[in-house]
Amino acid sequence: MPEQTFLMIKPDGVKRRLVGDILIKLEKKGLKIVAMKMLQITRELAEIHYQEHRGKGFYEELIKFITSGPVVAMVLEGEGIVEIIRNFAGKTNPKEAGCGTIRGDYAYDLTQNVVHTSDSIVSAKREIINFFEKAEILGK
Ligand code: PPS
Repeated sequence: MPEQTFLMIKPDGVKRRLVGDILIKLEKKGLKIVAMKMLQITRELAEIHYQEHRGKGFYEELIKFITSGPVVAMVLEGEGIVEIIRNFAGKTNPKEAGCGTIRGDYAYDLTQNVVHTSDSIVSAKREIINFFEKAEILGK
């Protein structure tokens, strides 16, 4: 099975009309999107997605933010795609994210940082299953 990763444009990215720009960057780089949808995340799904952050000081703010408006969720596929997409997004803290990355170019805030990306192959598998049915993924 080819490597896959999960990328989500967060509510701030959708509200700020950044979806098109982000898709253009992904496609211009030649990356392959194999699933994509817009959805409103429920509190239940948010708690599953961010389970590793439960109990941290920023947890409630994070849940409130991610459920505050629609997001665009997608699955990308290709060799080394987890690392490629992590580099594409830039560091979690936009103040440390490099120029040319999504967070480096479009974000300033630690919570409202435009995109979420899987941090490993293992978490990509878990996150993809949380958001997509098998039949919604159109890879090989
Ligand atoms: S950490 O510090 O290791 O837990 O950080 P990380 O695994 O990179 O991701 C943390 C996610 O929570 C969001 N968030 C914050 N992180 C750190 N500090 C504060 N105050 C904070 N507020 C929100 C951050 O945007 C990461 O979200 P995702 O969706 O995973 O990128």
